[in-house]
Amino acid sequence: MKKVAILGSTGSIGINALNVIREMPGKLSVFGLAAHSNSALVARQAAEFAAKAVSMFEPKASDELKRRLDGRTRRLAPGVEGLCDMASHPDVDVVLTSLVGGVGFAPLLAAIRAGKIIALANKEPMVMAGAQFMREAARWGARIVPVDSEPSAIFQCVQGLSPDPRAVVPLKTIRRVFLTASGGAFAKYKGDLSNVTPEQALKHPTWKMGRKITIDCATLMNKGFELIEIMNLFGLKREQIEIVIHPQSIFHSGVEFSDGSVLAQMGVPDMKLPIQYAMTFPERAERVIEPLDLVKAGTLEFRAPDFSRSPCLELAREAAQKGGGMPAVLNAADEIAVSAFLGGRIKFTDIPRVVEKTMAAHQVSGGLPGFQEIVEIDAWARAKAEESCR
Ligand SMILES: NC(=O)c1ccc[n+]([C@@H]2O[C@H](COP(=O)([O-])OP(=O)(O)OC[C@H]3O[C@@H](n4cnc5c(N)ncnc54)[C@H](OP(=O)(O)O)[C@@H]3O)[C@@H](O)[C@H]2O)c1
Repeated sequence: MKKVAILGSTGSIGINALNVIREMPGKLSVFGLAAHSNSALVARQAAEFAAKAVSMFEPKASDELKRRLDGRTRRLAPGVEGLCDMASHPDVDVVLTSLVGGVGFAPLLAAIRAGKIIALANKEPMVMAGAQFMREAARWGARIVPVDSEPSAIFQCVQGLSPDPRAVVPLKTIRRVFLTASGGAFAKYKGDLSNVTPEQALKHPTWKMGRKITIDCATLMNKGFELIEIMNLFGLKREQIEIVIHPQSIFHSGVEFSDGSVLAQMGVPDMKLPIQYAMTFPERAERVIEPLDLVKAGTLEFRAPDFSRSPCLELAREAAQKGGGMPAVLNAADEIAVSAFLGGRIKFTDIPRVVEKTMAAHQVSGGLPGFQEIVEIDAWARAKAEESCR
């Protein structure tokens, strides 16, 4: 029985993870649950899954939770401290990181240094310092298994391949990967994007997700984040990742090998599959999703993205190329800009403007920044991006 800690249990990924765990009694159980402020839902989840520990980020919500808990569940500290304590607790086997944004940075580091299996949905820290996290994971014997459907697809395709060049099939036999994108809310929109509302941008054609990632899908920044995440997870160069628009979200991504053979991972668009795979890794469990009906799926379409309408994707590609602290700047500025757009403070088309301006103010210095330096760059970029939202 694997014990899982879910950081972000009240969000879209967290709730889906609990739906998977509910269907797998005897195989997976909940050790702990953490969220930002939704103490009522955390209390219900803790009671249903007999969680041993809970943590609310917001101190007020943490006090509220105290009143709602029965005596069986321990309340950890609020803030980042509670998240890190849960992520590194000795009784935890798998840490599912389903927080949103850079707040997941310290808990990811804590889980890595405790040698955990990390089911990674919270991609933002991997954008900020993915190469450093991978190096740290190798040092502490931790394993990062992506949850996001596209990186998960690539991860599943390369199982059995080794980073060791002497292995029978080394990772260097990968020629390129096909990273698919559904295109987000405006994939077919031909009008002027400057006046679209948050409500319009929050209507994703295939996936039902949290607000931040849904906006990132509409700007295609999410695809840029995945590009950087995949480069870091699999040690690939930017040129080896080909982004392809695939509106049906059935072909979740694929890998082309040196001999031209392409392996893809396919399935119905349901996040329960990659979440289950990451939590049960390295085993494959019994299915909790609908089977894929290829005939019903019908035609699968693929087309090149229109980069001229996707400035965020271009900015992400630029950050990937520049390296150093630039991906952390990209991430921080995007987080501030998306929040400002959702709050009605800036227009949809201001999101890339804010990110570009913040990136232009950052000078990349040589070498890979350490974790502390990334934290400082992140704080600087947030303040700088805020200035551009006024
Ligand atoms: N949704 C998807 O299908 C999907 C797919 C691929 C990747 N991802 C990635 O997975 C992550 C989560 O996405 P989501 O769609 O599940 O987001 P979401 O629905 O907005 O949920 C976010 C969760 O994180 C919690 N949270 C936010 N800030 C926190 C903080 N400071 N401290 C503690 N908990 C905090 C929220 O708690 P409250 O409810 O209390 O606010 C909630 O439980 C993102 O990085 C996203 O890019 C999501």
